[in-house]
Amino acid sequence: MPLPAIPTALAAASVGAFLIYMVFFRRAKRFPNEPPVDMGMIPWLGHALAFGKDAATFLTKMKAKHGDIFTVHVAGKYVTVLLDPHSYDAVVWESCGKLDFNEYAKILMKRMFAVQLPNYDPATEKAMMKVHLQNKNLPALTKSMFSNLKNILIEDPERKHSTWKEEGLFQLSYSVMVRAGFLTLFGNDSADCNDPKLRAQDRQFSADIYKHFQQLDQFLMKAARAMLSAEETNDLDSVRKSLWGLLSINKLNLTANRSSWLETYLKHLESVGVEEDLQAKAVVVQLWATQGNAGPACFWLLLFLLKNPKAMAAVEKELQEIFKNKARPLDEKEATCQEVLDSAHVFDSVFYETLRLTAAPFITREVLKDMPLRLANEKEYTLRKGDRLCLFPYLSPQMDPEIYEDPEKFEYDRFLKADGSKKTEFFKGGKKLKHYNMPWGAGSNECIGRFFAINSIKQFVFILLTYFELELKAPRQKIPSFDNSRYGFGIMQPAYDITIRYRAKHS
Ligand code: HEM
Repeated sequence: MPLPAIPTALAAASVGAFLIYMVFFRRAKRFPNEPPVDMGMIPWLGHALAFGKDAATFLTKMKAKHGDIFTVHVAGKYVTVLLDPHSYDAVVWESCGKLDFNEYAKILMKRMFAVQLPNYDPATEKAMMKVHLQNKNLPALTKSMFSNLKNILIEDPERKHSTWKEEGLFQLSYSVMVRAGFLTLFGNDSADCNDPKLRAQDRQFSADIYKHFQQLDQFLMKAARAMLSAEETNDLDSVRKSLWGLLSINKLNLTANRSSWLETYLKHLESVGVEEDLQAKAVVVQLWATQGNAGPACFWLLLFLLKNPKAMAAVEKELQEIFKNKARPLDEKEATCQEVLDSAHVFDSVFYETLRLTAAPFITREVLKDMPLRLANEKEYTLRKGDRLCLFPYLSPQMDPEIYEDPEKFEYDRFLKADGSKKTEFFKGGKKLKHYNMPWGAGSNECIGRFFAINSIKQFVFILLTYFELELKAPRQKIPSFDNSRYGFGIMQPAYDITIRYRAKHS
């Protein structure tokens, strides 16, 4: 039975007053050694809007006001932000019993992908899946990626002719990497890699996957912050449903050349009693986790090369040296050989400089009990149970002027020593840094696909530079700024795309 109107209003007011009391006055009582707290001016929301709109600008302001550690109030939650890279190890290696990353992962999975898995334990799952993307499983993945990249980039009749073709560089990079990465992990139409008809089917199906993937990707940031309108929620539901259909277990069971990573993941879901419908939903989460970053990274890397002729010349020279001028066609054995891929030191420096400038994940932990946190400067702070702890390596070390001179600038040889070997020594406060660039996260958060990602990105760029001429359509156009709503989730995306012209070097 509905309550009469006045008591309902009174009840709502009391609940509101109680919540405001909980948020503001609970915090009025400070523990000794707590980091400074910044509530923000808007009741209940606190700093939520500024944080969601542009986390980097907001946190830079907070750092200037409070220093390397502070707590901000964000939509009913207290988030302690730590920005001293010398102290990150105290967080990323802390036990899950004190600083847990499972709970937040579960919240995001529900908001973004509408998935709640029974007995879900991300830490155990990650440890189990790691081996299938690394070590002895890496060569097979690298080989398969090369074949799939060649199919999409070189065998596509659309790209074969030697007339100039115009395309957005972001679209090109993201679509090729998602399509080839998808085929490599999730399987081909057939095990026969020589039948042109079957290769064409792979191109078509992967293009369909990418179309839906991209639509999904556009909603996910707002979904993560629970900021979708009713219409957007419906649209997200519908694109998720399409992907669940495209990646149903029946369909996946028909593919050939599936990676051991996928095989093991599906067996694992079955073993913990996940029904087939829910398995397809979990697979869509994995599709995004594995394919969301490499394409945007390729975009920035190629754009920096195209805007910096000196860097491009150095990379092309290195390519010629590595492949000893017999670069056309790229020798498959060499292009998939780990030793050869690892020998591209100039490329590696360009790549790590690109990641330094564009990788901006949050490293997030839930504080499970009141606990001390000792920083590298020996100062001890108290963290409060129920709060969230967040590291943001993009601000420091990556964009920290104390560590990198002109941190906003792309310097292709920043990670090279004078003798051409890899530079790994960087300092802050006179002390050598262990964490000087953190695109992959760290500790229990570290990306388990990073070795495969590095190989795939190299292959994509090597194929593109070897088989195609490419140039910017408007060489004077500025490098785009970021889509600022995407801080926290990996590689940033540009606010707008940049058009390039490209054509096959030979018919
Ligand atoms: C430039 C490319 C990439 C970057 C910068 C990157 C970065 C990251 C980061 C920062 C995380 C930690 C996320 C977290 O735990 O909060 C992560 C997790 C992960 N990455 Fe990557 N990644 C890249 C490419 C890849 C690729 C190509 C794969 C797989 C083939 C992959 C597979 C994964 C998986 C499975 C996780 C774990 C997700 C989870 O915790 O559920 N990544 N990655």
